[in-house]
Amino acid sequence: DVGRSTNVRWHQATVQRADKERMLCQRGCVLWFTGLSASGKSTVAATLESILHQNGHYTMLLDGDNVRHGLNSNLGFSAEDRAENIRRVGEVAKLAAESGILTITSFISPYRADRDAVRARMAPGDFLEIYLRVPLALCEQRDPKGLYKKARAGKISNFTGINDPYEEPTGAEIVLDPYDEEHRMYSPEELALRIFDHLTI
Ligand code: PPS
Repeated sequence: DVGRSTNVRWHQATVQRADKERMLCQRGCVLWFTGLSASGKSTVAATLESILHQNGHYTMLLDGDNVRHGLNSNLGFSAEDRAENIRRVGEVAKLAAESGILTITSFISPYRADRDAVRARMAPGDFLEIYLRVPLALCEQRDPKGLYKKARAGKISNFTGINDPYEEPTGAEIVLDPYDEEHRMYSPEELALRIFDHLTI
């Protein structure tokens, strides 16, 4: 079983999570954003981090596009690779949260099973799923990176929402509708504040 984690023993740390949380004056958790490409995840996540920081909190932000340049640079967009992307990010986020950090992640994370697997690895209350519920048509209309256009033209084979699934959350702690009835988007600050008001940290 070479390369597998057999014969590995768990080391108990001496500095406990509670010690770190006392030092940071906060309770660690994972704030897990999910939603279609161009739903505003990255912007709202970054704005939320900024608000938390201004309020004296210690934070970490893991964002899809960035993580895929480093930790997950060997992964593509097949269902298997997306699962591994989310699994790795989930594990990193878990380690950070258990060190008392308010950890914000921003990934499409289109598969319910992948998100639920991350949730199942965490203690109850450590994982908050935040769904940015933007209709596909509005994401496609925004298309800031021109990816929807490319996907429609058949130049991207498995693009989420077009020719790849997005499974909506059923048990998200926070569901945000970033657009009003007139299809006007609320500001990232307003959306991030709505999340901030919901937190008990
Ligand atoms: S996933 O599904 O959670 O593993 O995806 P994620 O790591 O969040 O990466 C999404 C960003 O990658 C770009 N991109 C694609 N997205 C969806 N489907 C396909 N095929 C694809 N190819 C590239 C895209 O810029 C996504 O960024 P966001 O910020 O979500 O628009």
